[in-house]
Amino acid sequence: MLICRDLPSLRAATAALRGNGRRLGLVPTMGALHDGHLALLGAARAAGAGAVAASIFVNPLQFNANDDLARYPRDETGDLNKLRGAGCDLVWLPPVEAMYPPGSASVIEVAGPSKGFEGDARPGHFRGVATVCAKLFLQSSADIAAFGEKDWQQLQVVRRMARDLDIPIHIEAVPTIREVDGLAMSSRNRFLSAAERATAPVLYQVMQDVVRVIAADGAVAQVLAEGEARLIAAGFAPDYLALVAAETLEPLQQKTTAPMRLLAAARLGAVRLLDNIAVPA
Ligand code: PAF
Repeated sequence: MLICRDLPSLRAATAALRGNGRRLGLVPTMGALHDGHLALLGAARAAGAGAVAASIFVNPLQFNANDDLARYPRDETGDLNKLRGAGCDLVWLPPVEAMYPPGSASVIEVAGPSKGFEGDARPGHFRGVATVCAKLFLQSSADIAAFGEKDWQQLQVVRRMARDLDIPIHIEAVPTIREVDGLAMSSRNRFLSAAERATAPVLYQVMQDVVRVIAADGAVAQVLAEGEARLIAAGFAPDYLALVAAETLEPLQQKTTAPMRLLAAARLGAVRLLDNIAVPA
């Protein structure tokens, strides 16, 4: 497994991996890897990548005062071992100065799907995500990039950005990997106390119940309000529980025949849990 820490060596390595028409897959990460990340490597291969790279970069541009950049978990040695075990061909580990050299002055602003939800909760977050993902795509020349559906809004923002900027990359969406009790895997789950960890799966249970009622033509506003009330009763502080159009994230007051998604964000103690599930028409 090759490890690159500067752009010239990354470009040379990706050019070699893309030789003989081989397609390169990229899994962008911020490290603290879990099985959900490793599933992305397999998904990139299944989508046609003959070689797979992962990037590990805790992107300062996507953190703001509400997030804690310093607290973000880091485990470079553990991550490299996991990637090696998963058959990763190349790891891009840029220092901050390689990603944002002094004088960097360009950012990418994606309107549309960045609006609302995480865009409201974390102002500037999607500007940082779109900017770093555009840079990662261009730096690596990857043909395929795999993103988890767990961060549904991020997935839509990245898709929109790649389409709008004509970056020739296929974005492969990979279903959320869950713990056996249904909790969506996340690097932040490690900050849950034992009691919070026991409560955390309630979020997914409530979401499944809400989706069942909506699919059976229940009144959307009422079922969402009841879902939030159940979350509060279980000890969560919900930020939102919303029915949206799957691609544009336009909030929906009633069920449609176009693809829909139920989005949720709720704090449990100091940890903010995010989840989403498809809503059948
Ligand atoms: O989902 C993440 O880990 C990050 O937002 C990403 C896509 C790697 C960009 O920094």
